[in-house]
Amino acid sequence: MKYRIGISQCSADIWRDKQNAELRMGAYFHDNVELKFAAAYDSDERQVQQIDSLVNEGIDLLVVAPNQVQTISPAIDRAYDKGIPVIVFERKTSSRKYTAFISADNYEMGRTMGEYIASRLDGKGNVLEIKGLEGSSPAIERHKGFMDAIEKVPGIKVVGSLQGDWTEETAYETTKQWFATNKDVRVDLVFGANDRTAMGARKILGEKLLYCGIDGLPGENGGIQLVRDSLLDASYIYPTHGDQIIELAVQILEGKPYKKETMLMSALVTSDNAKVLLMQGEELMRQADRLDQLHEKADNYLHKLDTQRVVNWLAVGVIILLLVVFILFYLYYLKKVNMQRERVVNTLWNLKPEDIPVTSKQTDDSESDAVSDETEEKEPVAVSQFISRFKEVIEARLEDSEVSVEDLAADMNLSRVQLYRKVKSVTGASPVELLRTARLNRAYQLLLTTDKSVSEVAYAIGFTAPSYFTKCFKEEYGMVPGDVRK
Ligand code: FRU
Repeated sequence: MKYRIGISQCSADIWRDKQNAELRMGAYFHDNVELKFAAAYDSDERQVQQIDSLVNEGIDLLVVAPNQVQTISPAIDRAYDKGIPVIVFERKTSSRKYTAFISADNYEMGRTMGEYIASRLDGKGNVLEIKGLEGSSPAIERHKGFMDAIEKVPGIKVVGSLQGDWTEETAYETTKQWFATNKDVRVDLVFGANDRTAMGARKILGEKLLYCGIDGLPGENGGIQLVRDSLLDASYIYPTHGDQIIELAVQILEGKPYKKETMLMSALVTSDNAKVLLMQGEELMRQADRLDQLHEKADNYLHKLDTQRVVNWLAVGVIILLLVVFILFYLYYLKKVNMQRERVVNTLWNLKPEDIPVTSKQTDDSESDAVSDETEEKEPVAVSQFISRFKEVIEARLEDSEVSVEDLAADMNLSRVQLYRKVKSVTGASPVELLRTARLNRAYQLLLTTDKSVSEVAYAIGFTAPSYFTKCFKEEYGMVPGDVRK
């Protein structure tokens, strides 16, 4: 059975892309796990619908990053109340109805960033903050952590806390508006709730200021590279850990012990460590890529194997079918030949001499002609005459236990070989077999019409041993001679 895990992402961006890739990678390690992804593109309404339809599709477990704390909770509760285990990750819900929660500490992240910023500005300067999406837990917590740290440093002033929504575009627009009315306000540093937000503000306020963000993604245009290239002054790694989420999901689904709350470790990215972190991150991505390729290869191989298996079974099926058809055909052919022979022998054997039609070709010494002339041999008249004659010869010898095929042949004016060939070609049986059939026939009549004992009948028709007679009789008629009179 496959575990179907529904993944409800509140958004779609490079952070989510990385995480989704890790989730898929995590699933590679479990043959029995199937993932179903849904992305709500920052819309509460869409995420609620997507969760409901994942539940209706019959998922076994829900993994969800709720867009906002309050709005998504009813859908999560509905899933949970249906008995579906729920892993809430990275963003929080207002409900307690979840099975496990996994995230980094967003408050701690904001606080550390606040402390870093205060020290980066030597305890004196103006900071502009651009917050994350209103009502989403990381935005609330990062802001709170940041403010708690900054408030402890009197020389640092927060000149504005603008409302962003995690996207670069919104940060760009809100900064633009703020700047339009605050041109005279000096800003030393911008703290964006994530790296994209900080970069949006940078496009308005220019390269002279310092910019700090959160996410610290590896790879092209990720926060680590932006710090290394001095576009950002600092970032904070917001761990994605998709593979770890799958492990947690499988533990829950298999009824194994699991941690209800998992706090992921994280770290500050500055110009001091950006280069090393980028190298490490890129190496990890390279390995993940290779793993992906390996998985694809294994998948292809398994697919080929499956196809091969089907082809093999089909081939075996066809061979068996052909064999069956061949055997049936052969049996049918044998039966037909036998029936034909039986018909010829039965009809001809039982003909009385006077019933045999006479043709113009018939002469007194026609037996020898019948043997030598192949065309005549096959004509029914010649055949029936031959059989009828042979029957007379046999019947005359029925009681003679010593009679040989040579004797019969001599009686027919034929050589032993000629007689054998002729009899065989016409009846399918040998002269000896016909002799035996005739004897058994006579025995049957004697048993029916006389009081002779079985032994007497046996001797009367040329058998020397009554037991052998009984055996032959049973073979021919399917019953023992004694049964004839019953
Ligand atoms: C990704 C993202 C990250 C941010 C996080 C907050 O969708 O916007 O940039 O750190 O979500 O939940």
